Amino acid sequence: HAADAHRTDLMTITRHVLNEQSKHPESKGDFTILLSHIVLGCKFVCSAVNKVLLFLFPSTIASPIAISTSIPPCLFSQAGLAKLIGLAGETNGEEQKKLDVLSNQVFVKALISSGRTCVLVSEEDEEATFVDPSLRGKYCVVFDPLDGSSNIDCGVSIGTIFGIYMVKDKDNVSLDDVLQPGKHMVAAGYCMYGSPCTLVLSTGNGVNGFTLDPSLGEFILTHPDIKIPKRGKLYSVNEGNAKNWDTPTAKFVEKCKFPKDGSSPKSLRYIGSMVADVHRTLLYGGIFLYPADKQSPNGKLRVLYEVFPMSFLMEQAGGQAFTGEQRALDLVPTKIHQRSPVFLGSYDDVEEIKALYAAEE
Ligand code: AHG
Ligand code: MN
Ligand code: MN
Ligand code: MN
Repeated sequence: HAADAHRTDLMTITRHVLNEQSKHPESKGDFTILLSHIVLGCKFVCSAVNKVLLFLFPSTIASPIAISTSIPPCLFSQAGLAKLIGLAGETNGEEQKKLDVLSNQVFVKALISSGRTCVLVSEEDEEATFVDPSLRGKYCVVFDPLDGSSNIDCGVSIGTIFGIYMVKDKDNVSLDDVLQPGKHMVAAGYCMYGSPCTLVLSTGNGVNGFTLDPSLGEFILTHPDIKIPKRGKLYSVNEGNAKNWDTPTAKFVEKCKFPKDGSSPKSLRYIGSMVADVHRTLLYGGIFLYPADKQSPNGKLRVLYEVFPMSFLMEQAGGQAFTGEQRALDLVPTKIHQRSPVFLGSYDDVEEIKALYAAEE
């Protein structure tokens, strides 16, 4: 049958969320609308990432090859590609910033225009954004519009991370609405701009993964009910910081490499994009750590839009997330851009690091 070659009944992300919602008769579709605006942002950034130079730097592309104004479009692509993979002379520093800024603008506009948000916190904006009362809805969104920006120039996977809170009182909104522990989030997710573009979402009822079908422009459910393996064979950390680690972190990584219980050593995987490192950890199992060190006593990653959403997803997938002191989702942030160490991944692997910190006390 010709039809056998095609799946004709597709679970799109919108259909999936509408299904979820039908279990709650009181819901009015606000979350579905908010999510569709987030999805639009992800598709926009995905598209921009895939043609990063053509989109953003027509003038810098033109100069190194001294092209005339009548240049055929195909040469633009070649020039763009050459620059992208670092063959076209001077390097950038600028690019990633521009893509960070572009992604931020895309998400801020998509979120405000949904009419369903009231407070936005973005990595790229120093202050929180309070949505104009005329466009205000009941959700607060915290997000990292472009995560892993050091990987843009070499074409390695990058992403967007988001977490969603519900406001207490729409007519009386303050920063306290987002300075909430991660366990109060109503949903969290990320989109990875890799091969392919993947959106992973939890609304507090398990974790589901969707893959963008570019020909349809739709995210299709491809990874239903993701569960992280109970123990993993991989660990993921920037080992270049080892000289400044605290004892539990140093002991843990030593154990990964030289296990004393007869088990095999773990393999090291580190991409340097949290989205990609966490995505692999979620699917294959293992542990991702960005610990404290003597230089950065709170680690590097941001509580609201990096640590919380990823910790939420990990717990929903059966894993754990720990800060070195407590369950990550119990942390109560006092500043919107606050940082925290984090250890997240397979249940048993996180148990081990927890035991090492407990032994310190
Ligand atoms: P961002 O690009 O949003 O600033 O985040 C970068 C983060 C995160 O993606 C990654 O896990 C971490 O930086 C890597 O840091 P190191 O280069 O210190 O390993
Ligand atoms: Mn980030
Ligand atoms: Mn970022
Ligand atoms: Mn950054």
